[in-house]
Amino acid sequence: MTVPRHFALIPAAGVGARMGAEYPKQYLALAGKPMLRHVADTFAAAQVIDHTFIVVSPDDAYVAEAMADAPYTGSGARVSILYCGGATRRDSVLNGLRTIREQVGDADWVLVHDAARPGLVVGLIDRLVHALRDDPVGGLLAIPVVDTLKRADDYGRVQATVERRGLWAAQTPQMFRYALLRRALEQSGQVTDEAGAIEALGFQPKLVEGNPRNFKLTLPHDIVQAELYLKESND
Ligand code: C5P
Repeated sequence: MTVPRHFALIPAAGVGARMGAEYPKQYLALAGKPMLRHVADTFAAAQVIDHTFIVVSPDDAYVAEAMADAPYTGSGARVSILYCGGATRRDSVLNGLRTIREQVGDADWVLVHDAARPGLVVGLIDRLVHALRDDPVGGLLAIPVVDTLKRADDYGRVQATVERRGLWAAQTPQMFRYALLRRALEQSGQVTDEAGAIEALGFQPKLVEGNPRNFKLTLPHDIVQAELYLKESND
């Protein structure tokens, strides 16, 4: 049996409307470089990752400049750009999986990671890969919920307190074998993460503890927090 390889797939075809910026949030400058570059640099530096694919929209006008001086593109590249993004995150991931069909084996692992999570570090990739090495299903980084959770009614009042025990907040990367992930996404509706599609097939993805610094940037005030984390890791 051949040893499975590890590929990263980064959906980066969103518009990031909630960020209220002039261009998609994955290109916002954070601690001196575009958000997407932080993510690409991290995967390029991870020895365990054989190759990284970034999915952008077919009419993306920013990625070429954002990646122009990256030392790991061009010949012998560790990172490639795929202009095949779709209308939703799930469509972008599925289009990417179809596009890389010839380069990836059914049993190879695919780590799907949001471009909007620039706080990922190589140590977290290694932790996920190590934890899932012999796993029959695959899994995801996530963090246990520590706050007390409230469900709101339509008027912003508490309808119920939700039992916190056993609840985790899902992060990315989410890591599954190519064939299973593709089948799950092809059969799923518009899920918001890969694990959701795998669960719909009746499997139970494994939860691997992530880190708060790997949070998803959504709103303008998230930028300050992200820069604190990113500067910390450069010191
Ligand atoms: O919008 P949200 O933060 O949920 O997006 C998560 C990730 O999915 C981002 O990296 C975004 O660029 C990507 N995405 C995509 N194609 C879409 C929508 C979102 O690749 N149509």
